[in-house]
Amino acid sequence: MTQTIIPVDNFDLVVFGATGDLALRKLFPALYRRDAAEQLPEEARIIGVSLSEYDDIGFRNKVHESLGLHIESADLDPTCVERFLSRIHYLSVDVSNHQTWEGLSTCLEQKPDRIRVYYLSVAPSFFGVIADGLAATRLNQNEARLVVEKPFGHDQKSAQELNQQLGNAFPETSIYRIDHYLGKETVQNLMAFRFANTLFEPQWNSHAVDHVQITVAETLGVGTRGRYYDGVGAMRDMVQNHLIQLLCLIAMEPPYAFTADALRDEKIKVLHSLRPLTGKDALKNTRRGQYLSTKNEPGYVEEVDTPNSICETFVAIKAELQCWRWSGVPFYLRTGKKLREQLAEIAITFKKPHYTLFGDLATPVRTNTLVIRLQPDEGLSLSVMTKDPGQGGFRLNESVLDMSFSESRTHGNNAPDSYERLLMDVVRGDQTLFMRRDEVEEAWKWIDPIILAWQASGERPESYDSGSSGPAGSIELMAESGRRWRDIKS
Ligand code: BG6
Repeated sequence: MTQTIIPVDNFDLVVFGATGDLALRKLFPALYRRDAAEQLPEEARIIGVSLSEYDDIGFRNKVHESLGLHIESADLDPTCVERFLSRIHYLSVDVSNHQTWEGLSTCLEQKPDRIRVYYLSVAPSFFGVIADGLAATRLNQNEARLVVEKPFGHDQKSAQELNQQLGNAFPETSIYRIDHYLGKETVQNLMAFRFANTLFEPQWNSHAVDHVQITVAETLGVGTRGRYYDGVGAMRDMVQNHLIQLLCLIAMEPPYAFTADALRDEKIKVLHSLRPLTGKDALKNTRRGQYLSTKNEPGYVEEVDTPNSICETFVAIKAELQCWRWSGVPFYLRTGKKLREQLAEIAITFKKPHYTLFGDLATPVRTNTLVIRLQPDEGLSLSVMTKDPGQGGFRLNESVLDMSFSESRTHGNNAPDSYERLLMDVVRGDQTLFMRRDEVEEAWKWIDPIILAWQASGERPESYDSGSSGPAGSIELMAESGRRWRDIKS
């Protein structure tokens, strides 16, 4: 069985920041793959925009080179590559100077009756400027859509201001705030798992669940992104968006329909119900870390060349939801760079049976844990207690039911990656996997007081060894309630 490809309607996609890292590493390769899968209509155009001086041919060469770096050669079909490159055009525009926008207007006006997607793959300080420019040149009309990358603001106030500015140029129904975690295959499977099966939903609450752990661990450090990262840190870079989105999808009530607003209405309720963490309470329920150097590799402060940097590269949080379903169930969030393994997973640990039937002869009953693996090796596993086979008394053992999506997928490893899926959703006009204005602001509302408490404490993040599971404080955070983190191992 093969994947069903539904071609999208005709479009012009304008990539602002077309010579930047994200565009070359993710966006153009994603568009190529969709083109090779025959999802792009014959006439669709991709228009690269940035300050650099290129002509169409020069820019196509640059994109060609990046396809070679980011796509396996077996997947680069010469005919598809040629067709893809012929869709690409390039315009040099100084976005701060609206007079230089004329070339873009002329180019787009050649094809007036099609969907227009503007992808802002630029520094956040240009988001508002470009939205204003599109409005001033009336390029925001009809089927125009604006795609905004993260970081979306630096705190609640700046996110509100940015929302206001974008909202002056585009209606909310045309603004697509990207969180690439929402485009991941397993994140979508999580919704299928919860709402297309009857097995787990009755257990999905404080009667059956002891606690939830959400971990996104990375092995890489900040590398060349130090300049961006040092003013941001793990809390703003990862927790405010990716981890909180995962928390929302795990904790939300079933939406009344699988539509963008029905889903986002449920996610926002989760955000409203997050117990605020402020002052000492914030310090008690969170831990920060910063990775140290190894014999061969620099530590964080050396990478960013700021010896006194107090930027966190690791965060652990004990969050709680004040709502009927989850009252008393802690949600532990953890993310960090330079950790032992690359791993993203959600683990739901169920409560122990309330009565001990098997007595001392049996090995102690362990709790059932359902693990949803986002990467690597996407899949689900469920640990269950079973009887140890054979004679000699009734001993119990933990067995694991394991399901790997990459093995079970009918289309093998050719499933679209997040950017492929999200880009096509924008063209289709489907906002389900994008964050609404209120979600972003509400997430900041919860994050801001935690960051303030850290700043007010004057404490540095705790150091941790590169290649470890993070700082000792994160283990303590769990130990305080007699729990422990799952091992970081892929
Ligand atoms: C990005 C962060 O949003 O997500 C990066 O800015 C991080 O710091 C990345 O490395 C992780 O994404 P993924 O898909 O590799 O888990």
